[in-house]
Amino acid sequence: FPCEQKEIDKVSVHVQPVLQPLRLSLDKLRDVSSRLHKGLVQGLGKHSHHRAAVKMLPTFVRATPDGTEKGDFLALDLGGTNFRVLHVRVLQAEQKVVKMDSQICVVPKDMMTGATQQLFDHIASCLGDFIASQELKGQTLPLGFTFSFPCEQKEIDKSILIRWTKGFNCPGVEGRDVVTLLRDAVRRRGDYDIGSVAMVNDTVGTMMSCGYKDQSCEIGMIIGTGTNACYMEEMKNVKRVEGEDGRMCINTEWGGFGDDGSLRDIQTEFDQMVDKTSINPGVHIFEKMISGMYLGEIVRLLLLRLSEEKLLFKGQKSEVLQTPEIFQTKFISEIEEEDTGLDNARRILTQLDLQWDEADVRVVRLVCDTVSSRSARLCAAALATIANKMRLNRGLDRLQTTVGVDGTVYRKHPNFSEELQLTVRLLAPECSITFLVSEDGSGKGAAMVTAVAQRLALHSASFSCHPEVRH
Ligand code: BGC
Repeated sequence: FPCEQKEIDKVSVHVQPVLQPLRLSLDKLRDVSSRLHKGLVQGLGKHSHHRAAVKMLPTFVRATPDGTEKGDFLALDLGGTNFRVLHVRVLQAEQKVVKMDSQICVVPKDMMTGATQQLFDHIASCLGDFIASQELKGQTLPLGFTFSFPCEQKEIDKSILIRWTKGFNCPGVEGRDVVTLLRDAVRRRGDYDIGSVAMVNDTVGTMMSCGYKDQSCEIGMIIGTGTNACYMEEMKNVKRVEGEDGRMCINTEWGGFGDDGSLRDIQTEFDQMVDKTSINPGVHIFEKMISGMYLGEIVRLLLLRLSEEKLLFKGQKSEVLQTPEIFQTKFISEIEEEDTGLDNARRILTQLDLQWDEADVRVVRLVCDTVSSRSARLCAAALATIANKMRLNRGLDRLQTTVGVDGTVYRKHPNFSEELQLTVRLLAPECSITFLVSEDGSGKGAAMVTAVAQRLALHSASFSCHPEVRH
């Protein structure tokens, strides 16, 4: 491809100012981090949490695995377009969580916004089919339910949906207990039963599944369709739950950061547009700048603007670029691949029916890089906020901790994890953070949460039966 360097440079000079608002300096990130820190404290407060944008939800997970857990579990995992059912075995001798088998059920798009009963009947039917196929009928195994939406938990098995996110919007579920909805659906079928249920956010599942292997794993982070993190907070800071001793895992729901207007200065017109046209305008502002559900749309809007300003595609009017969601987030990863990226860009632009030249290809790559890099840096700022808080909580000069991570953006994008890790090191210099990508985390983790809850219950039962025995 003959490529006129001068032409490219000339275009870049005009393109840079359009991209400039998406470039966040380290100082800006520090500022964002200190705003988030205030948000975390507000969310934990007894009297301030009602109005907090960052919900800081207690999970009633009071301990990470200690390596003595064992047994067979069922796990459900609902958080995106797929719903999974798993049979999981925790093997103490090998310190491993093994997926025995699993099944994926698609959640049709209309079901994501349809009637509540229809969604839960679908879940109960997938679970029923799986139990039958595994010949588990008649056994009532404990069940971990990874439900990756913000829920107010009263106990480990009572979880009230605060709001739907990520394209789900079944009316009538918000404000209701998800465990009751599941049990009712199972009862309606009447052909099998479920045992105790533990409700888990995917971040918590991810932390717990990594925690069996690495017992210093005390943070879980997801950067996929949505984004969020959880971490072990000191009980004395969790003012909404009785008790001062020990720790509890807090589901931060950091996606909601900015819902009170606190990120207005860094929200670009493209972010505002993405928010306005989403099914939940005004909520999950931070998530909409970061996660896979939205990154492709931000890129599309930028490409549209650049072509309107005649800086791309020779300024040709293109209906393609006016089509919402036409530019998929996975294209960003493909275009940014080191060796094949430019070829991928040429292929994708051709597939999209755009009339491109070599300068366009480079500009498109630059746009993708700017959008994904902002996402990685914002995540880094948020993660650094949590790590710094944990270090100060514990009065340590240096915090050594592990983060269990999952999500397509983190896994699939070629430079995302590197940029995130590099930026965290700059923003949290007193923390040494190890990143562990979790395999099947949210499903296996749900089983792990159930296993830990059983261990703790057994432990306290033996305390109350034999008060003289000290373990
Ligand atoms: C949800 C979180 C979830 C995250 C990642 C967000 O939209 O609110 O509960 O952890 O997505 O799946």
